[in-house]
Amino acid sequence: MSTKSRLLELLEQNRGKYLSGNELAKMLDVSRTAVWKGMKSLQQEGYSITAVTNKGYLLEEDNNILSEEAVRLQLKNTEVLVEVWKEIASTNQRMKQLAVEKRLPHGSVVVAQLQTEGKGRKGRKFYSPKDSGLYLSVLLYPEKTAQKSLEITAAAAVAVCKAVENCCGVSLGIKWVNDLYLENKKVCGILTEAVTDFETGDIEFVVVGIGLNLYEPTGGFPKELKEKAGAILPDGQKVDKNKLVGELVNQLLLETEKSGIPQEYISRNIVPGKKIQIIFGETKREVIAKEILSDGKLLAINEKDEEEIFPSGDVSV
Ligand code: BTN
Repeated sequence: MSTKSRLLELLEQNRGKYLSGNELAKMLDVSRTAVWKGMKSLQQEGYSITAVTNKGYLLEEDNNILSEEAVRLQLKNTEVLVEVWKEIASTNQRMKQLAVEKRLPHGSVVVAQLQTEGKGRKGRKFYSPKDSGLYLSVLLYPEKTAQKSLEITAAAAVAVCKAVENCCGVSLGIKWVNDLYLENKKVCGILTEAVTDFETGDIEFVVVGIGLNLYEPTGGFPKELKEKAGAILPDGQKVDKNKLVGELVNQLLLETEKSGIPQEYISRNIVPGKKIQIIFGETKREVIAKEILSDGKLLAINEKDEEEIFPSGDVSV
């Protein structure tokens, strides 16, 4: 770990409190000049660090820069890989690449503030602009035998709802299968990708990708998304991004440890009672959603006025 990174960790642990240069130099076993240089470099990166003679250095409470050090402080299991990127093609792609190269701990996370090739479900793109969103991917090694993909997907949706509620004070609804909605607008998409062993077909690992629209992007959402996409928070309402990432990972690990479809997945679902379109490739079916069953499948009334069960699908409400 570099001196700068260790300094940041100490500042984050003592947010809002002064730490003297001497104290820091002793704790890190480096010179005071090294401390001063590290602080200068952090300030240049945008960290709100106040330096006062005879008092030392203080990281301001409202500092809201995402960092590996600050995310790690929020995690229940700190022995994981944490990567934070200002810009990346896709966090899911990065996480998969890392997990193929070597076995990383369960719960490792890659976070980005901007994705240039954000991936959505069904090969679509996920609009991932700078500053207004949060994009992350978490690595999981599910119990091969028991956990089905629908369970992981449902657990992920519930975990995100809980984390957003705890950190932003906003209650989201789930649109089957796993889009998260606020007031009829999609505010979060989840993409779960499993990598399987070619020979046995067993799941080797799963990457859960979460894309949150925290705020409305500067200049608004692009034309093609305007009708459907929304933001979790109004402009100007702050949320601690490091805390939110930590909470998302912690909740995801908790929820995916449980077996079965969480009751909350069913109770938060917004489709029951609605006329919906289920899209499978080129085919569109118009049905009335009746209920989400205990195994996570959708029971609907089809075009022939008969009950039909849908295991999965792309829904438009
Ligand atoms: C969807 O709504 O179609 C799913 C969108 C999932 C987007 C997230 S953002 C973080 C992660 N990295 C990606 O490239 N995609 C997922």
